[in-house]
Amino acid sequence: MPAVKRSPSLFAAVVAIALVPSCSSPSSTPAEPGTFTTIYPLLFPVSTNARCNFCHGLPANETSNGKLFMGTDKATAYAALIGKLSTGNKCPNETLVVPNDPEGSLFYQKLTASPPCGSRMPLGGTPLSGEQLEMVRSWIAAGAKDD
Ligand code: HEC
Repeated sequence: MPAVKRSPSLFAAVVAIALVPSCSSPSSTPAEPGTFTTIYPLLFPVSTNARCNFCHGLPANETSNGKLFMGTDKATAYAALIGKLSTGNKCPNETLVVPNDPEGSLFYQKLTASPPCGSRMPLGGTPLSGEQLEMVRSWIAAGAKDD
């Protein structure tokens, strides 16, 4: 029986096709930068572990939410955060989200293990996983776009 002959160029093409997906596969590379569209449903609704809206969807007052009202929809939350100053007694006059500067953003700092003021968020809830925290960090680092 004659051996099946492979053309070298066809073989190279098959190898190239087989390799391309493994180079760009999302599962084998570090997490994609977070977007607000992926972060919002993960953290804000009361059905999530973080449930920011449980407290920050209430009218602004010192005891329930440190005077930070973020509404119960994505657009309201985004508008409440970008370039806005905090007014809570524990963390007054800090910018909540400074685009391109996660470490300088109170919103990010409050989700980390040692926030500079007040308690770690979500208050009384499950701390964010490393992956969730990285999504928030990378979203702000990439400009905190309404994406
Ligand atoms: C159980 C209620 C509760 C939940 C849930 C909660 N927070 Fe808070 N949050 C508070 C309270 C009370 C304060 C004020 C005291 C403090 O800063 O420790 C506060 C303060 C903050 C501040 C500072 C506001 C300011 O103007 O000083 C940020 C930012 C914040 N929370 C973000 C979040 C995020 C993001 C989530 C969801 C991941 C979340 N919080 C979940 C109650 C909550």
